[in-house]
Amino acid sequence: MDIQRVGVVGCGLMGSGIAEVAAKGGFEVVVREVDDNLLEVGRKRIRKSMDKAVEKEKLTARDRDAAWGRLSFTTAVEDLAGCDIVIEAIVESLDAKSELFGALDRLCGAGTIFASNTSSLPVTDMAAATSRPDRFVGLHFFNPVPVMKLVEVVRTIATSAATFDRAFSFAKALGKVPIAAKDNSGFVVNLLLVPYMLDAIRQLERGVASIEDIDTGMTLGCGYPMGPLTLCDFVGIDTLYRISEIMHEEYHEERYAPPPLLKRVVALGRYGRKTGKGFYDWSGDKPVPLPI
Ligand code: CAA
Ligand code: NAD
Repeated sequence: MDIQRVGVVGCGLMGSGIAEVAAKGGFEVVVREVDDNLLEVGRKRIRKSMDKAVEKEKLTARDRDAAWGRLSFTTAVEDLAGCDIVIEAIVESLDAKSELFGALDRLCGAGTIFASNTSSLPVTDMAAATSRPDRFVGLHFFNPVPVMKLVEVVRTIATSAATFDRAFSFAKALGKVPIAAKDNSGFVVNLLLVPYMLDAIRQLERGVASIEDIDTGMTLGCGYPMGPLTLCDFVGIDTLYRISEIMHEEYHEERYAPPPLLKRVVALGRYGRKTGKGFYDWSGDKPVPLPI
């Protein structure tokens, strides 16, 4: 593997998981956040997840310590200059991502691959903000990253075969199962999963059933590991809203349109499990459905 040093930008839900699996996979990892507070929150999230893995005897304390030693944390984008691959996991906004990749393009060497973990933005639109669209891919991980095996490796019409192969091998080196996807908004999985989650919100709007009953229906009726409204809280209500807007703008199909109830929950700042409230209140031992 010619990739040794990995940059991860954004240490939220996804960036922290990506940094963790990369460090556990033996790579040197530099993690960048916007400020010291958010960096500390992300750093603690990674440490907690690694400690839990040790508790559950999925990782030895020695391997945890070695992986932890391979991680470094920064707020300076310049510290990503020496990376062989930079994986972006910041907010789902084309403007924010394009600005970041433009800055990285000026800093990083010609051999550095750029990868976005976007859920719904076409990768080409970000690659166009750089001078290296041939060395640009999507690497779409799934939440929670340490658990979910899949990575969609997204090839744009400009991605070179060598870059795609390097990114595909890198995903395998992380212990993941990569699949190849074309650069259409939503790739393979979200094209199916996002309308399903939005339809569950529409069911709730129409009063078809309660939050709990919709979730119980899909877990016990179909064997899904969690119900769709729990999954919305898990993904992040703010992130789902942005994904929905982007996919709707791309396809102009009603099934991607953000349901009004989703907008209301976002307006209240109920972003899901990460902020303590979404469709459920997550502050206690068990999630409690909130009145709708
Ligand atoms: N980090 C590390 N490990 C975790 C974890 C986390 N955040 N959450 C759970 N785990 C581990 C647990 O330690 C446990 O491991 P063991 O079985 O070895 O003890 C295992 O996962 C199962 O966890 P739990 O027993 O606590 O709970 P569970 O059986 O309900 O499983 C789950 C949790 C794996 C998250 C499961 O509910 C699940 O698969 N849910 C669906 C997740 C999903 O659909 N993700 C995709 C979201 S969409 C997306 O990511 C794309 C996008 O662009 C929006
Ligand atoms: P999040 O809100 O948990 O984290 C995003 C983080 O990025 C925040 O901590 C924010 O401070 C940081 N950030 C913003 N701008 C930055 C910059 N310029 N430099 C460094 N850090 C910056 O969001 P998330 O759920 O981790 O999602 C991140 C990306 O991954 C999005 O593109 C999302 O669509 C995608 N994604 C999310 C999921 C999911 O289930 N949540 C799954 C797959 C992909």
